[in-house]
Amino acid sequence: MVSGKAYEGSNALLTSGRTDFWNGPIVDLTNILEPNSNYVVKAYIMYEDGPDSIQMDCMLEKNESHYLKFGSALVEKGVWTELNGRLIVPEDTKTVKLYFETNTESEKNCVDFYIDGVELVKETAHAVRGDIPSLKEIYKDYFTIGFATTVYEASESRQGLMTEQFSSFTIGNELKPDSLLDYEKSISDPKYDDNPQVTFKNVEYLLEFAKKANLPLRGHTLVWHSQTPRWLFTEGYSKGENAPLVSKELMLKRLENYIKNVLSYLQTNYPGVIYCWDVVNEAIEVGDGEPGFYRSKESYWYQIIGPEFVEKAFEYARKYADPEVKLFYNDYNTEQVIKMNAIIDLVQDLKSKGLIDGIGLQSHIGIDSPSIADIENSIRKYAELGLEIHITELDMYLTDNSEEAFAKQASRYKRLFLVLQHLKKQNLANITNVTFWGLSDETSWLNKPSVPNYPLLFDKYLIQKPAFWGVVMHPDIPLN
Ligand code: XIL
Repeated sequence: MVSGKAYEGSNALLTSGRTDFWNGPIVDLTNILEPNSNYVVKAYIMYEDGPDSIQMDCMLEKNESHYLKFGSALVEKGVWTELNGRLIVPEDTKTVKLYFETNTESEKNCVDFYIDGVELVKETAHAVRGDIPSLKEIYKDYFTIGFATTVYEASESRQGLMTEQFSSFTIGNELKPDSLLDYEKSISDPKYDDNPQVTFKNVEYLLEFAKKANLPLRGHTLVWHSQTPRWLFTEGYSKGENAPLVSKELMLKRLENYIKNVLSYLQTNYPGVIYCWDVVNEAIEVGDGEPGFYRSKESYWYQIIGPEFVEKAFEYARKYADPEVKLFYNDYNTEQVIKMNAIIDLVQDLKSKGLIDGIGLQSHIGIDSPSIADIENSIRKYAELGLEIHITELDMYLTDNSEEAFAKQASRYKRLFLVLQHLKKQNLANITNVTFWGLSDETSWLNKPSVPNYPLLFDKYLIQKPAFWGVVMHPDIPLN
């Protein structure tokens, strides 16, 4: 404890002499936290020497062997920064401890840092949801209705709503490469140089939940430029900032083995649970100006393999996926005409080779744009390809929580669902799933402590908002 440095009061806890990124004070909460309860953890962090900014994570150590990240913030040098997260204590917890760590991809980051203002608050629901209609029932003749959740939002107290309302499930983060890749094991033996190793420890809880709840899972996502560590692409899996990238030949092997390792584990241990995969996510970026409008700047996949990485990913996914598993290409801003045409070209080619079953339209939309007419027209266009269509990540960006704004959001959701239902009913588009990107506003990826966002159907207490009544097409919700 040092005095003179503090976020509040006059003291803070100084952590120094660290030799690895995970070093730091740890507090045992085993006898304080109750299993299956939600807690909000808050702390203020500051450091004075080192890089301009560092990523700091809130970490939970469970049963001395599992490490779960449940919150993260970018801390700037010299600025007290709030770090917060929602902590759920899993049922099988024997010991639980809390600590904070520095985390950078490319280097060990052992700066000294101060901690102050640590707070742990148990969450309790403030209102009752009441008896509400079930979305999956309402739409059962048209498409399944899904939601995305990460492990931090999936406590048992929330699982009732999930199973009552939804007939499909997407794991928000924990099936992405940065969550599955096992760095330590991959570098442990040169024989893994073309065979990236994976671990399922971060995703186990959600897989078990999906299995137990009988909720079919959309796999998200195998190949993406984001949430994929750079070391996957470097010689010797080096984390060095300027470490050279591997050859195309080696990268194709790593790609094939990654897909093989992920699919074989899941299909062996959770047979039938995953019914489709977003094989490739966000490969098109018009602004990068490449032929075919492939994303190049941020994509090591493209930089090393070239445009062929998309087809190869689908080829390997087809090779290793169980035959009934559907393969999807997934992207955002899919109503924008140039992007749409690029996606259609790419998908058409995959279809002619029998490698794809569907298109995922993320649909992170705003309160005014794109227009519902543009959304409808784009879906009709994609439907001409004769593939299944999933709306994979629906939410509606909204930072105004006034009654009027919520009413407007409800109308827009209603109109959108009328269109989706109509397209399906009239055989104009084979829409088979509509998934919301999150369960409640508070845990939406759009929500920021400094700028709250209200994009979804349920509020922070899991009480339905007007948007929910829009989606159920309640007659009281007007169509603007
Ligand atoms: C988001 C998650 O919701 C966040 O928790 C994470 O920090 C970033 O990724 N398109 C996608 C999703 O395909 O995987 C993204 O999910 C949202 C945009």
